[in-house]
Amino acid sequence: MAKKLYFGSNLKMYKTVAQTVSYLQKLEANTNDISKEEIQLFIIPSYTTLESACKAIDHNNIMLGAQNMCWEDEGQFTGEISPVMLKEVGVDLVMIGHSERRHVFMENDYDENKKVLASLRHGFTTLLCIGETMQEKEYGISKEILRQQLIIGLHDVQDSDLSKVWVAYEPVWSIGVNGIPASADYAQEMHVVIKECLEELFPGQSSQIPVLYGGSVNPTNASELIVQPAIDGLFTGRAAWDADKFDALIRQAMEAYKSA
Ligand code: PGA
Repeated sequence: MAKKLYFGSNLKMYKTVAQTVSYLQKLEANTNDISKEEIQLFIIPSYTTLESACKAIDHNNIMLGAQNMCWEDEGQFTGEISPVMLKEVGVDLVMIGHSERRHVFMENDYDENKKVLASLRHGFTTLLCIGETMQEKEYGISKEILRQQLIIGLHDVQDSDLSKVWVAYEPVWSIGVNGIPASADYAQEMHVVIKECLEELFPGQSSQIPVLYGGSVNPTNASELIVQPAIDGLFTGRAAWDADKFDALIRQAMEAYKSA
């Protein structure tokens, strides 16, 4: 049976409110004819755009996510945004542990675990991002790092929450303007490691969790990535920030998947 494919983008610290709304409306219109049984679309814009973004589109077409979240509902946490606040504006999804949160803002796996549990407690679809650095890859410990990020990050997650858990594998060395895209073979190999670890953590239940690849996804590598059996979707940054180009990438990947 054909699996559902996931396509989404983190807009990082780009796009104003007006730019985000117009991007979302264009993407929604562009992808209108694609069956949402076949694909799940999601966009993760910046905090200040979320309220307008949530009103601008039908969430059955495109889920909307936040790029980060505090684990507490309220309190003395200056500069943080709580799950209650995200609920209030109508967010569907929360991304936890993006590479830039871990490596620019020094979050660790225990922080990510607190956020994952808080996000699930509030009923958000929870996208946990994991990935090894270049140094960890060179030392040959990628698999151990990914396993650690999953085992700690998903600690205490219950089977009943798994329908809301997504994982993105984004090797740190592959992300952004200086990133080197992972080869399809390498991505597949790491996705197998991730899926095996998820099965160890949640025996008999792990197939519910989609595992997406991210890191310099572009029109040149999208097709070879999406046809890998352990890759369930593409989490795209720069190549998705123009609605026409993202729509074209999605269609190209769907075509490649169907004809594989
Ligand atoms: P990129 O970003 O596609 O621009 O490399 C990926 C990400 O950070 O999720």
